[in-house]
Amino acid sequence: MLYDDNPTLVGIPKEIDENRQGEALFWEDARSGSTAGGKRFYIESYGCQMNFSDSEIVASVLAEEGFSPTRFMEESDLILINTCSIREKAEETVRKRLRMFDLEKRRRPGVLVGVLGCMAERLKKKFLEEEKLVDIVVGPDAYRDLPKLIAGAEDGEKGINVFLSREETYADISPLRLDSNGVSAFISIMRGCDNMCSFCVVPYTRGRERSRDAFSIVAEAAQLFEQGYREVTLLGQNVDSYKWQNPENGHVVSFAELLEMTALVHPGLRVRFSTSHPKDMTDEVLHIMARHENICNYIHLPVQSGNSRILDLMNRTYDREWYLGRIEAIERILPDCAISSDIITGFCTETEEEHRDTLSMMERANYSMSYMFAYSERPGTPAAKKYEDDVPEEVKKRRLNEVIRLQNQISLRHNLADVGKTFRVLIEGDSKRSDQEFKGRNSQNKMIVFPKQPGLKPGDYVNVLVKSATGATLLGEMC
Ligand code: SAH
Ligand code: SF4
Ligand code: F3S
Repeated sequence: MLYDDNPTLVGIPKEIDENRQGEALFWEDARSGSTAGGKRFYIESYGCQMNFSDSEIVASVLAEEGFSPTRFMEESDLILINTCSIREKAEETVRKRLRMFDLEKRRRPGVLVGVLGCMAERLKKKFLEEEKLVDIVVGPDAYRDLPKLIAGAEDGEKGINVFLSREETYADISPLRLDSNGVSAFISIMRGCDNMCSFCVVPYTRGRERSRDAFSIVAEAAQLFEQGYREVTLLGQNVDSYKWQNPENGHVVSFAELLEMTALVHPGLRVRFSTSHPKDMTDEVLHIMARHENICNYIHLPVQSGNSRILDLMNRTYDREWYLGRIEAIERILPDCAISSDIITGFCTETEEEHRDTLSMMERANYSMSYMFAYSERPGTPAAKKYEDDVPEEVKKRRLNEVIRLQNQISLRHNLADVGKTFRVLIEGDSKRSDQEFKGRNSQNKMIVFPKQPGLKPGDYVNVLVKSATGATLLGEMC
């Protein structure tokens, strides 16, 4: 993870660092030791930022039932794990954690274990057969059913709901912000995905794409601002295809329009979004970004591969030239916008030459950072059905290492180009290294660390002059 100073806030693909532990999420007051009495739940989340955002919905549903959160598994009545299926390794990590929960359950037989999220959806009933000690299995669209399933499990019934909905957006549920820094928050604007990238399991685990009521999104942003938050990230697997029809007048709100509506909540509220799909990212969105100072100049635009034949096999529905055209549009309309990417190495039949096209794309696009993966075949996906996973593991890994090495060089170069520039930084908290330093990000989503000055606090904006840089962080001083 490049911006390791704050790994939780780099945009949607939180799943990239699948080696790291899932995070136990809890409320601020739980951290200071207060417990509300009654039953307690413990929740760990894996996968992308949407999953973390869903855990906040789950927390809200449970709070309504009188559950309070705990960061200690040993004192919980209910252990939940919100899971990810994107790569095999992500699922292995979850299985390992389930072994730990099994031990806890043997020690305290009354405790319930629930599996939520994408792996629950992918494996469905199989989960209850394979993992005998799991009590409930709940897919991403069924969290409203949790109280019922928990009540059943308390009576000794195994519970499962993996129904995928065409409508559910949880628009009316106010998420309980777990483990928040009080400055930045995520807002889910849509669910599911209708793209059929051949390598990807998400359409099967998250179901059809649907967009959330635009007014509920704007109201959530306004409420967050009232509560002191200064940055929101609008989340979706493909935000550019956001489309919501107002039932009152039939007007269809596009992503560009939603972005503008959110930016107008308050000039002091920064707006970010993730993820953009190259096939759908319009110039209109770029012009809206240019028009509003508080929409951050940062676009996560996953390329996956720099080669047109591979992109076709991946069913990304754009080719290298189209992608380059999008990069040029960003450079033209938003000259100081940073761009980041997701890259897969060793997709089915990828040759050395095609791999080199990915490297040259990275150079051309000048990504400030990338999330990089070796291809992992997922059961049931079009690629698994149609193509042979024929690039040997060691070749995938070697190509991945080349991609990582190149990205490290590009990131360093990108960061060194910022030395001597001044940026407006939103303070997020103390830096990891020292409580004498603050960390915060600039509009381009780069983490900047700088010495504290009295009277400032997280949520304040300051101007910082960059003095030096590493590949991961900018170091500066307030000016
Ligand atoms: N909706 C986003 C991506 C969500 S998944 C988009 O379209 O860009 C995040 C990233 O995981 C993907 O961009 C892709 O790079 C990676 N990924 C997805 N499936 C994968 C697989 N089977 N093997 C390796 N990486 C994968
Ligand atoms: Fe997966 Fe493609 Fe949808 Fe992204 S756009 S979630 S990669 S199917
Ligand atoms: Fe996210 Fe993983 Fe599901 S990336 S959508 S949690 S498969």
